[in-house]
Amino acid sequence: MSKRLEAMIGWIDARFPLTANWRAHLSEYYAPKNFNFWYYFGSLAMLVLVNQLLTGIFLTMNYKPDASMAFASVEYIMRDVNYGWIIRYMHSTGASMFFVVVYLHMFRGMMYGSYRKPRELLWVIGMGIFFVLMMLAFTGYILPWGQMSYWGAQVIISMIGAIPVIGQTLSNWILGDFMLSDAALNRFFAYHVVTLPGLLVVLVIVHILALHEVGSNNPDGIEIKANKDPVTHIPVDGIPFHPYYSVKDIFGVVVFLIVFTGIIFFMPEMGGYFLEYNNFIPANTLQTPDHIAPVWYFTPYYSMLRAVTVNFLWIDAKLWGIVLMGGSVAIFALLPWLDRSPVKSIRYKGPIFKFALTLFVISVLVLGWLGTKSPTPLYTLLAQIFTVIYFAFFILMPWYSKIDKTKPEPTRVR
Ligand code: HEM
Repeated sequence: MSKRLEAMIGWIDARFPLTANWRAHLSEYYAPKNFNFWYYFGSLAMLVLVNQLLTGIFLTMNYKPDASMAFASVEYIMRDVNYGWIIRYMHSTGASMFFVVVYLHMFRGMMYGSYRKPRELLWVIGMGIFFVLMMLAFTGYILPWGQMSYWGAQVIISMIGAIPVIGQTLSNWILGDFMLSDAALNRFFAYHVVTLPGLLVVLVIVHILALHEVGSNNPDGIEIKANKDPVTHIPVDGIPFHPYYSVKDIFGVVVFLIVFTGIIFFMPEMGGYFLEYNNFIPANTLQTPDHIAPVWYFTPYYSMLRAVTVNFLWIDAKLWGIVLMGGSVAIFALLPWLDRSPVKSIRYKGPIFKFALTLFVISVLVLGWLGTKSPTPLYTLLAQIFTVIYFAFFILMPWYSKIDKTKPEPTRVR
């Protein structure tokens, strides 16, 4: 390092803990040496977050949050604004890729038991991130004010109206009107560009701080902090995050960007899954589209909402649907307390857990697929069966994770 640079860093260090933080979070943050493919998605989620924040600023410069101008302003961005098309496609593809990356990130946590002690709070903060991410996606999808923006939001908002006693008042309060209109578009715009991104950034910082407090888990589910070198006090199975994992993550970024740009340049609508065809039609408050479906990342929950078809215990079927849909997301937050297995990682868990997790993944995929289809009696029956399987994975976990035949965990990472 040149003398001048050294002096400059020294000047900063005397006023701000720059080198101390670099050491604590990068060059002397010891991560387990056995990270694998599944450990790419945390850093990729941060990459997509930055992409969404940057492209979002440029979209906001030309977008008009006004029910009579919103749709046309998006078309203006696509056709007339210099590079507007690529900025919009980076943002819309980024939204879907955010969910791809975060779902894989969560799945890794489920496989390796990363939610178990001492990472319960880290997991719950992650659930907070996931909730904010869903709100961001929902409010963002309304902004182009196309047919699906309008009618998709209508379905979700009408759910609030189904809450007993206060539902209708609450819905009017949220919308600022008796129906979905310009007032709601304005406030959803405010949430989408200010409140929710700010909250997400704060939560991600807290997420990383919580992670660095307890240290990373790993595919073996072993606590590397329990085995430190007696002289250096460095975990014997740890390696510094920088340069080892910063280089690994850069490789992940390159592969991710190849896929990401491939989608942007060759199939930005992804066959109607990333940008739905009905959303290229301006919102018409007098004409409901034939088939209303959310974007792919919400379809499993949408399937569960539609799966309840009968009133039960004096409660309306629609309200049960809402309870199931909310419960299907919220139940993830309980995982740290549902899993009673003596080992963390799937590598040492028994056949029952492996079978239950496989069945759970199948149920998510089938529910996701059903959510894109118009309901028929057969599809509704399938949605009901797979909703039961989905919830059974969680509800029965305290029982099957205890009786499952596990293998002993090794003392050192493999
Ligand atoms: C914007 C979204 C998110 C970002 C930017 C993010 C970022 C990260 C990063 C950088 C790591 C460390 C690297 C890695 O382990 O891959 C991490 C670890 C972790 N994250 Fe996230 N995360 C996000 C969402 C979530 C969600 C939704 C959950 C779960 C509900 C979650 C749970 C965890 C857990 C349990 C770990 C520790 C994993 C381990 O050590 O095995 N994260 N996160």
